Amino acid sequence: MFLSEMIKKIVVFSGAGMSAESGIQTFRDHGGLWEQYRIEDVATPEAWNRDPELVTRFYNERRKKIIETSPNEAHQLIQHLELIYDVSVITQNIDDLHERAGSSKVLHLHGNIRFSKSSGPNQEAAYYPIDSWELTEADRCPEGYRLRPHVVWFGEAVPLFEVAEKLISSADVVIIIGTSLRVYPAAGLINHIKEDSKTYLIDPNANNLNLPNWIEAVSESAVKGMKSLYENLTS
Ligand SMILES: NC(=O)c1ccc[n+]([C@@H]2O[C@H](COP(=O)([O-])OP(=O)(O)OC[C@H]3O[C@@H](n4cnc5c(N)ncnc54)[C@H](O)[C@@H]3O)[C@@H](O)[C@H]2O)c1
Repeated sequence: MFLSEMIKKIVVFSGAGMSAESGIQTFRDHGGLWEQYRIEDVATPEAWNRDPELVTRFYNERRKKIIETSPNEAHQLIQHLELIYDVSVITQNIDDLHERAGSSKVLHLHGNIRFSKSSGPNQEAAYYPIDSWELTEADRCPEGYRLRPHVVWFGEAVPLFEVAEKLISSADVVIIIGTSLRVYPAAGLINHIKEDSKTYLIDPNANNLNLPNWIEAVSESAVKGMKSLYENLTS
């Protein structure tokens, strides 16, 4: 029997390392974003209440950079898997590189920087696409509240967590890519993987992550690791 006849559903769970080879910085690596900015200043609801201009400017810069970059080969290989398998992506990333590679089912656990939402009391009611890279003070929701980036900040609830939990628990194969598994509740998703599903983790630092023994560590970059896994899954 071919592998593709046994495996029905693949779930990819990606983190910042997924986009590193597209030139987008991770948060915790040496030279990562948090060496230049303090979380409390730009990625919390308190930061927004204190200084919405600074927070808006921080995400405008990130958005500009993301628009200028392209999906890398690992994003593309994940999309190519759709030719054979039912593939869903759960990403912690706020960039839209999975979508731009053509992946058809992408769940953004921490939001999508290309969208905004109301900063008023009803934040998850609607998401508004941001056409350019820039969100400004003048951008408002229909109720008149200033628009903020559609990003889940530290200290905020993760509205799609239960949907992601259900999705990952239905997978025959799980491919975790480029995450330090240090941001919760996202990292806790691995506890919902089915016992009999095959799970890989691709990350150059995989061997230092103290992984449970049922996860196969692939100590490579996203591109190199996805190339070898793609070959395994399609041969
Ligand atoms: N692109 C983005 O949207 C972006 C960028 C930075 C941070 N974030 C967000 O910040 C939070 C941080 O958690 P996290 O676990 O995703 O990131 P993290 O910064 O905590 O960890 C990044 C991981 O990527 C690995 N890595 C570095 N280069 C890699 C490469 N070339 N290929 C594969 N892996 C590589 C590192 O070893 C590390 O384990 C998440 O919510 C994340 O989405 C998003």
